[in-house]
Amino acid sequence: MHIVEAEKEEGKTADIRGWVHRKRTSGSIIFLVVRDSTGTMQVAIKKDKVDEKSWKEADKATIESSVSMKGLIKKDPRAPTGFEMEVQSFSTIHVSEPFPITEYQSAELLLDKRHLWIRSQKMINVMKVRSIVFRYLRDFYEERKFYEITPPLITRAGGEGGADMFEFDYFGDKAYLTQTSQLYLEAMVPALENVYSLVPSFRAEKSRTIKHLAEYWHLEAEEAYYSNEENMKLQEDMVSYVCQRLVKEQEQLLENLGVDKKTLSVVKPPFKRLTYAQALDYLNKHGEKKEWLDDLGTEDEKKLTENEDKPIFVYKWPLKIKSFYMRADPDDPEFALNSDLEAPHGHGEIIGGSERIWEYDELIQRMKDANLSEKNYYWYIELRKYGSVPHSGFGLGTERLIKWMLNLDHIRDAIPFPRMMNRLEP
Ligand code: 4AD
Ligand code: MG
Repeated sequence: MHIVEAEKEEGKTADIRGWVHRKRTSGSIIFLVVRDSTGTMQVAIKKDKVDEKSWKEADKATIESSVSMKGLIKKDPRAPTGFEMEVQSFSTIHVSEPFPITEYQSAELLLDKRHLWIRSQKMINVMKVRSIVFRYLRDFYEERKFYEITPPLITRAGGEGGADMFEFDYFGDKAYLTQTSQLYLEAMVPALENVYSLVPSFRAEKSRTIKHLAEYWHLEAEEAYYSNEENMKLQEDMVSYVCQRLVKEQEQLLENLGVDKKTLSVVKPPFKRLTYAQALDYLNKHGEKKEWLDDLGTEDEKKLTENEDKPIFVYKWPLKIKSFYMRADPDDPEFALNSDLEAPHGHGEIIGGSERIWEYDELIQRMKDANLSEKNYYWYIELRKYGSVPHSGFGLGTERLIKWMLNLDHIRDAIPFPRMMNRLEP
């Protein structure tokens, strides 16, 4: 039985298996806190209530040993979860060597021992939220009848212009780990119309920041006939859906993680919108010195969002500083039909999206301006020759979303085994 189920068996016996989280011996009683994937339970082994073999087995169980036991479930207000098992028989499956992680450890050691630290209460709770958030994202698209697709991760050319790519030898040819699956999602539009993928993207970011991973899980969507306006609406609906469901269904997990529910329950459409020009204006009025065509840096993102409770869109960016595939606004061709979504309280950009160029001539011109090889993108270009339609799409960094929603200090804690510039193992 799992511990959550065992707790419902008050007055009856239950069998549980788990790992020793804490241990304390006082004379002829051994107290354990046993952990499994569902929770923890206080367990008491009394020398005069068990046979000799069980007592010896409990005696030799060290912290993180795997253990199995049977006993009577009793209510006990002194126990951390209000229940205690009075053990009838006990066995140790594997005696753990002295666990190398003790209470106060450096962040670096916890990263070296990530394969063990992953069983800490904090990481367990975060990984549960991660799994649930992935499920909610899929549910959101299921409800809207989008198809989930599986793009290739090995590519010939970049989807974001080519900088920051991991290059490797592909049977004597040059290949790259994908930066984005967008171009493949676009290719699926004439087949399935509304599509999404939830797969890794890779960025050879040489910067060590609290929001960059070299490998991250990218939720990308592409929608036939959507304008950028409708694209933004879809993004705010998606982000709100995840926040609202977490509040409604995951109260305990949020509490374990010290997340104030109110910070998520306020996240409902519509989100505030600023044009790029308005954002620069705001920053310059608040002590920054931003010039036209400057990108937004970490400090800018912080200033823009520190007093916001919900994410905000920064839209209508100058075409010149945005990716080659973004469609120019036909009424204002200096600008892209695009938006970035900025998380509140300085957590930074979580989504980038736009209307895509769907006409052949416009794409060719923009690829020339960006100095991209038409040969490497022949198939992407061809999509504009055979039944092209207007479409929009976006990409969400799932770890950035989780970092913001759980108010984590660093993006590495939103993923079990982070890949960063200085971190390739475990
Ligand atoms: O803004 P980006 O680079 O946009 C694209 O890749 C588009 N092709 C997406 C699309 O339209 N389909 O990346 C999208 C999002 C960012 O907003 C950010 O949340 C996340 O991906 N992201 C990263 N997350 C973690 N580590 C990194 N190094 C990231 N780089 C981008
Ligand atoms: Mg971006």
